[in-house]
Amino acid sequence: MSAAIIDGKAFAARVRAQVAEGVAALAGHGIVPGLAVVLVGEDPASQVYVRSKGRLTVEVGMQSFEHRLPADTGEDTLLDLIAQLNADPAVNGVLVQLPLPGHLNSDLVINAIDPAKDVDGFHISNVGLLGTGQKAMVPCTPLGCLMMLRDHLGSLSGLEAVVLGRSNIVGKPMAQLLLGDSCTVTVAHSRTRDLPDVCRRADILVAAVGRPQMVPGDWIKPGATVIDVGINRVAHEGGTRLVGDVDFDSAAAVAGAITPVPGGVGPMTIACLLANTLTATCRAHGLAEPEGLTA
Ligand code: GUN
Repeated sequence: MSAAIIDGKAFAARVRAQVAEGVAALAGHGIVPGLAVVLVGEDPASQVYVRSKGRLTVEVGMQSFEHRLPADTGEDTLLDLIAQLNADPAVNGVLVQLPLPGHLNSDLVINAIDPAKDVDGFHISNVGLLGTGQKAMVPCTPLGCLMMLRDHLGSLSGLEAVVLGRSNIVGKPMAQLLLGDSCTVTVAHSRTRDLPDVCRRADILVAAVGRPQMVPGDWIKPGATVIDVGINRVAHEGGTRLVGDVDFDSAAAVAGAITPVPGGVGPMTIACLLANTLTATCRAHGLAEPEGLTA
């Protein structure tokens, strides 16, 4: 192995410490940021995420509001709750855990959140603001990836970036953020022709396709920085283990730097959610935003 390991766990702890400092400074103004998380149904992975979010929210000194609703909750009930959270001055951030049960229209629900409290950055207004280079709430996972890239590489200007995956949650906003930092960006996906050759162009390769170990080392340009967003549970020696979208061992032999799974991008997502909640709180009160925690 020659690649440097980008330690997302340690980086996320630093981000959370910075958020905690920002929260402590707000206490001087009599302000306590509040984050409301809404979970509909009992998806086990979502329950784990929501529990971690609640714990870490309190750890940085914010208020955590959790709303757990049954899987058969009607759209009107959910929209009423969102309206209530939008109107609540103690709530600075609102997150509706995805995926929602199939009978609920996710777009409708997400677009009901006040864009100023949309700490996921999924509201159509924030998507538009990001796409036009204006001040937005930025989706947490791509924001975390951008922070790690800037930290490791310094300026990203002029670099070739390939984003593998075109989801609204990661691929598309990641591409916008990299464009904002003056990368030359290609968004590749399952239908891309000559995918290995496209990936081999990348100085920065962000893999976010949700396919275990899909990217082997020989798709990677020597010295490239590889950000692996995938979190896939696979069978392993009678049990299971987590792997990324990148085949870590072969990739680490070629790349200049790589994020591991687990312990890479994953911990950065919640850290950036807390950073976004702090940012939303500062904006709501007309106070200066914390430095280094936004795009
Ligand atoms: N489910 C998986 N990732 C996310 C995320 O970043 N935000 C929300 N709201 N739901 C998710």
